[in-house]
Amino acid sequence: MLLILNGPNLNRLGLREPGVYGSQTIEDLERQCEAWGAELGKAVTCRQSNYEGQLLEWIQEAQEQGFSGIVINPGALTHYSYALRDAISGQPLPVVEVHISNVDAREEFRHRSVTAAVCRGKISGLGFLGYRLGMEYLIDRENGVGA
Ligand code: DQA
Repeated sequence: MLLILNGPNLNRLGLREPGVYGSQTIEDLERQCEAWGAELGKAVTCRQSNYEGQLLEWIQEAQEQGFSGIVINPGALTHYSYALRDAISGQPLPVVEVHISNVDAREEFRHRSVTAAVCRGKISGLGFLGYRLGMEYLIDRENGVGA
């Protein structure tokens, strides 16, 4: 079972800067991740919160809740949250960081991720497809394929 986490402001997808993030909503994203999970033979649970503490608790509890990996888009927390970084590094599951937009092509403050170093990898700029690629990596890894 995979956990898909979306952080602050991602509930505003479709309304928020559509030129940057597209016109699809968080519901579209979550339904798409569930459909990809069904196609890839993996149950998927999607959660979104604007609250850092809620995200920390979901990450802390993920293993005991039976998840085998996490795909996370931490939103702006990416750029400054050492608490989120510590929550990721303080638990054993593999985590993939995803950004819908190409953060390296945007403002300077978005170039820095304090969380990517404790994730298996980071996917940025590929839209919703990044979530699927993160899911595929986690599933392959669980099946002993790849790094
Ligand atoms: C984002 C990029 C972040 O810089 C921004 O704060 C977000 C969304 C993305 O998906 O491109 O909220 O994580």
